[in-house]
Amino acid sequence: MAENAIEIEGLHKTYAAARRSPEKVALDGVDLAVPRGSIFGLLGPNGAGKSTLINILAGLVIKSSGTVKIWGFDQDANPRQSRASIGVMPQEPNLDAFFTPRGSLDVQAGLYGVPSHKRRTDELLDLIGLADKAEAYARSLSGGMRRRLLLGKALVHSPQVLVLDEPTAGVDIELRNMLWQNVRKLNDQGMTIILTTHYLEEAEQMCDQIAIINHGSVIANDSTANLLSRLDRKTMVIRPESAAALPAMPEGVSAEARPDGTMHFTYRTSLTPAESVLAAVRAAGISIADVRTEEADLEDVFLSLTRA
Ligand SMILES: Nc1ncnc2c1ncn2[C@@H]1O[C@H](COP(=O)(O)OP(=O)(O)O)[C@@H](O)[C@H]1O
Ligand SMILES: [Mg+2]
Repeated sequence: MAENAIEIEGLHKTYAAARRSPEKVALDGVDLAVPRGSIFGLLGPNGAGKSTLINILAGLVIKSSGTVKIWGFDQDANPRQSRASIGVMPQEPNLDAFFTPRGSLDVQAGLYGVPSHKRRTDELLDLIGLADKAEAYARSLSGGMRRRLLLGKALVHSPQVLVLDEPTAGVDIELRNMLWQNVRKLNDQGMTIILTTHYLEEAEQMCDQIAIINHGSVIANDSTANLLSRLDRKTMVIRPESAAALPAMPEGVSAEARPDGTMHFTYRTSLTPAESVLAAVRAAGISIADVRTEEADLEDVFLSLTRA
């Protein structure tokens, strides 16, 4: 068995020119491997190519060139097995208003050839919190309920890999929490999860590994911890026992006094040991009431990589 849930090599996608718009290169040679069992984040600014990549995985967009393997199955050589291995919750809702949640899940299961006795309709209705709306028409469901139904549809064939494209964009906190609880639960059960999100804090909390994509290329792909440690910068925040002038600092350390009485010392961890910042504070005769450090977050990494 392949150790990666997804393997993508040399993936290109050019959308053909339409009446108004010229042809558009959306993916420009993407190589990507998603480890089995991970929660993998795909981040990038609007128009970077995230949905194109996900829709190619889902079989909704036809790639221009390159190879895509899902759960070890080549999309071209083994289209049925590769399709059966993945479930996708798309960014754009595509629900049929004439079906009820139960009907939608049944139709979707039928499309995937899941026999009646193997269907998990009631279990899925429970998971997405729509058991009491099972017989309501989709057009009468709230936006949040429709989103949840999309998640249910992605799961009818019990795929090994679940892909969520911006699942929490514009949803309320309650739905967001429910989605993340479901994602964690499914991941704990062994499902590999790929998601895109605009909320960097969310990616930081949820994802084991993150790929950053910009202008159709992967510009970083690493564990969340490694990505964060890439930014060689830390801020030490010191609260003196009593008001004091900013002390002289070693070269390369920037010092700032804040109105709340704290001093902020920002330095490159590779050049300046924390101890030399503390020593400079003590040398100025300042006694320290409190000290903490602030580290770079994903937003800093993201901005430093996508600023172009
Ligand atoms: N069906 C399409 N036809 C033409 N161009 C498209 C189509 N879908 C997306 N694009 C273009 O491809 C680029 C990548 O889009 P997309 O994959 O949706 O990015 P993201 O999901 O990262 O915002 C954008 O420039 C977008 O305008
Ligand atoms: Mg998108």
